[in-house]
Amino acid sequence: MKNEIINLLKKEGKVSEETINEIKDIDINEFSNLIQDIGKQETVHIKESEISKDLNTKYVGKNLFIYNEVNSTNTLAKFLSANGAENGSVVISEKQTAARGRSGKAWESPLGGVWLSIILTPNVDHSKLPLITLATGVAVAKTLEKIGVENPEIKWPNDIMINGKKVCGILTEAIAKFNTIENIIIGVGIDANLNLDDFPEELKEGTTTLEKELGRKGDENLLIRLFLEEFEKISDQFIAGGYEDILKEWRKRSYTIGKIVEVREPFNKYFDGYVIGIGKEGALVVEKIDGTLEKVISGECIIKN
Ligand code: BTN
Repeated sequence: MKNEIINLLKKEGKVSEETINEIKDIDINEFSNLIQDIGKQETVHIKESEISKDLNTKYVGKNLFIYNEVNSTNTLAKFLSANGAENGSVVISEKQTAARGRSGKAWESPLGGVWLSIILTPNVDHSKLPLITLATGVAVAKTLEKIGVENPEIKWPNDIMINGKKVCGILTEAIAKFNTIENIIIGVGIDANLNLDDFPEELKEGTTTLEKELGRKGDENLLIRLFLEEFEKISDQFIAGGYEDILKEWRKRSYTIGKIVEVREPFNKYFDGYVIGIGKEGALVVEKIDGTLEKVISGECIIKN
């Protein structure tokens, strides 16, 4: 991790070769402070001043770390959360060189998208992790509604869809201690000001972008601010145990309930079925062809009708 960050520093051009040689040996806390200092900048597109100006939150986004290019905002957020970054800190990058999607897939992150990770220290039981991911999906959907997207939907567990195509993905990672989650890193990637030409051929069919759907480029800083506000509201609801209300909001926007799907659980457990609903722990409830019910906690689902 340290070496990856040293490469980042070189790219940011903020420190000389000589300094880089010196920091190779510095203590990890000092190193973390240095990375945090570098993140106190404005890039061409992402501006702390714009995001913070009217930001109406208590803790989410009060600390913003902004970079031109990182390997993955989730990876950097994990490092910073283990080395002093506060609850609600947000890591944002204009581009990512090795962004991670779900199920070990890579995530395309060219200039023009919104790529960010939130550090949360919620002090909740491990079993609640799927719910915070669903809650984040609701926060993204509400944000898109605010900027004029009609009917954004959520495909279980956490793809945000517009007109049947994916516009946003969420990758939640937990740093756990015993059965309690110490820190959660919630990574959100929104295909905002992007053209479909920016994507590889195999992704074009199932992907859309805000620019395409709205017919114009949008303000990335505004999008980030609105999302951080929606996220804090739902995160507070989550921390207060308001799981049923979160699920109600999720169900209202579901792209999955009532559809025939192929479920792909980890370890290649695949089956087809009809989606009845979503259970109180965030599991997908599927009626299999033989009439039995299956609760799916993690995996993917492919819509078949
Ligand atoms: C998915 O596969 O749908 C999840 C994609 C998550 C991508 C975001 S972009 C910001 C953050 N950093 C990462 O490396 N991944 C997440």
